[in-house]
Amino acid sequence: MAHFLERLMAAQDGWARPFGEFNHRWLSALFRPIRPLKDLLNGTWLGHPVHAALSDAPIGILTVVVVLDVLGYPAAADVALVLGILSMIAAAVAGVADYTDTDGRARARATLHATLMVVSLVAFIVSLAIRADGPADRSVPVVLVIVGYVVLLAGGFVGGDLVFRFGNMVDRHAWRTGGAKWLPLEVPGDDVPEGSPTKAKLGANTLVLIRSGDTIHALHDQCAHAGGPLSGGTVIDGCIECPWHGSRFRLADGRLRRGPALYDQPSYEVRRGEHGWEARRAGA
Ligand code: FES
Repeated sequence: MAHFLERLMAAQDGWARPFGEFNHRWLSALFRPIRPLKDLLNGTWLGHPVHAALSDAPIGILTVVVVLDVLGYPAAADVALVLGILSMIAAAVAGVADYTDTDGRARARATLHATLMVVSLVAFIVSLAIRADGPADRSVPVVLVIVGYVVLLAGGFVGGDLVFRFGNMVDRHAWRTGGAKWLPLEVPGDDVPEGSPTKAKLGANTLVLIRSGDTIHALHDQCAHAGGPLSGGTVIDGCIECPWHGSRFRLADGRLRRGPALYDQPSYEVRRGEHGWEARRAGA
């Protein structure tokens, strides 16, 4: 079953990839001048994806609509349907912000998720429009809600896949630990140039070092958002900006200053030891 479902979803990549590329272009242009609003929708201020929090409401409310329709409570079903549509629109607005910063296969899967959700939303809106006319026979709007609900569940499944299989909006450092012990740090050329991001190896981890006078700031090189290389980024206002989607982390402690990332970046202490450069996780 699992393999069948994965094949079914992957089979949609043929249309989902180009459609996703197209959406990525206009959504990026739309959000570029309004980044603070996008951060708000991503959940950078909350440290949690807003879309994930909001998406529970429509699924619960629309489940109630189906139950009320089937049991024959038309007035209550209609009120719940209005609430379900409104909560679905709210979840979609937040989801669009996350969708803008997907890449590769995750973007194709997110496109499939978004398309299914739009199809189900249209079914719910049409059903509501028919109900508003007060028809004696409610079979068409009820069937529309049931069809929309099935599509909604399929869209929810694909959305879950996007998170659990592709790690979309998941903290890339969730399992990263660090001891208090100082470990050897391999710095290319044994020097850290002023203001320029420099890659360095700390065991299996890659760090990015930025010298600021006598201070050397060190963060993990892999961006907490989607794994972009911070060593390829730009230093701006005491932060490093990720080259992939523009998240900014404070050099001094890895604190997140701008999304779409939701989590702080692991930071490290660096010193010149007896045998060369050494580093350890800050606060370990
Ligand atoms: S990978 Fe997305 S902002 Fe860094």
